[in-house]
Amino acid sequence: MMRDLFEKIYKDKGPLGKWASLAEGYFVFPKLEGQISNRMKFQGKDVITWSINDYLGLANHPEVRKVDAEAANDFGSAYPMGARMMSGHTSLHEQLQNELAEFVSKESTYLLNFGYQGIMSTIDALVAKDDIIVYDVDSHACIIDGVRLHMGKRFTYKHNDIESLEKNLERATKMAEQTGGGILVISEGVFGMRGEQGKLKEIAALKDKFNFRFLVDDAHGFGTLGKTGAGAGEEQGVQNEIDVYFATFAKSMASTGAFIAADKEIIDYLKYNLRSQMFAKSLQMQLVKGALKRLDMIRTMPELKENLWKIVNALQSGLRERGFDLGTTQSCVTPVYLKGSIPEAMALVKDLRENYGVFCSIVVYPVIPKGLILLRLIPTSMHTLVDVDETLKAFSVIRERLEKGVYKRLSASVAAAMGE
Ligand SMILES: Cc1ncc(COP(=O)(O)O)c(C=O)c1O
Repeated sequence: MMRDLFEKIYKDKGPLGKWASLAEGYFVFPKLEGQISNRMKFQGKDVITWSINDYLGLANHPEVRKVDAEAANDFGSAYPMGARMMSGHTSLHEQLQNELAEFVSKESTYLLNFGYQGIMSTIDALVAKDDIIVYDVDSHACIIDGVRLHMGKRFTYKHNDIESLEKNLERATKMAEQTGGGILVISEGVFGMRGEQGKLKEIAALKDKFNFRFLVDDAHGFGTLGKTGAGAGEEQGVQNEIDVYFATFAKSMASTGAFIAADKEIIDYLKYNLRSQMFAKSLQMQLVKGALKRLDMIRTMPELKENLWKIVNALQSGLRERGFDLGTTQSCVTPVYLKGSIPEAMALVKDLRENYGVFCSIVVYPVIPKGLILLRLIPTSMHTLVDVDETLKAFSVIRERLEKGVYKRLSASVAAAMGE
């Protein structure tokens, strides 16, 4: 019997949506107000913001704001109209591509309007039906969605587990010998939730044994890792072994847009085959000019990255000294693991925000195992050692309260409502 399409939606709001009435506006879709900075306002209160990926503090840098404003004044927010291929191409798009290519040591790059759609299209364009994809099981949603577009076989390997990758490469190789296709391996440069770097060096070393091409999503590594800030490939000394390098402008570049980088012949192919770019409006000039300025600052102001790492080191070593579990992070991403239920996590985060002025993201089951709470802190170049100090003190207090069962008591009614 047929049903109304919307019937399932009326019944089931989805794994996150079902908590909307308890969480919306506070734990999800919170409104951070004021200028993007280390301190912003949340529901009228001053909070130290540890939840914004403005790693290098460029979002609100006066020089950046000036260029953004000038570009808006000169070009408006429409120019250029149309897709790059048809009418939306400009010399400044080309200039940005050339400068990005030089910065990440690749022959060529191509701009993407959004990282998410861009990497989906990249995966889609790189593989044909007889090719096989082998990718980390903890990959970002955009990679998973890109893989979903693939008509052929795919294998996941255990997160950052080289033995598991090898096993899957053996299976993929056998299969590719039958189909006559090739293999694409995909990893992140930095896994954004837990902060580990992808084992790019070990993965690249497997090229001696297996025949594959390597795509790296370096959203969190670009600008934060490597001597010049060129990312996780530079940090691990394997940029040359990465066949297709991707980074977004949404983090260190504090903007919107993204790019892919590879050999010229590969980029020349992609620019004629990336459906999300061919059939979408070109990145607007305000963003292109803004990105040129940001890239210039990343190149010429090493103090931005130095200050970022000063804060990262102070925060991470301070938390570790206090006995907090930061898991396996090897990047700026600072996860703090605590034990507790979802309602306890909600009460704890409320306490942090209301009484200690500390705003960080909270991650719970199903993203991480049941019974664990992940508080995720993103240090930036804007933060100060005072911010770190206040946060460390607050974290010590909330842990004590968690262990004493304070949040369990405070959240008893929420737990009952959630059926926890
Ligand atoms: C690992 C990773 N890849 C891709 C993206 C998507 O990039 P964008 O925000 O440019 O769509 C993100 C989030 O921004 C990310 O964290």
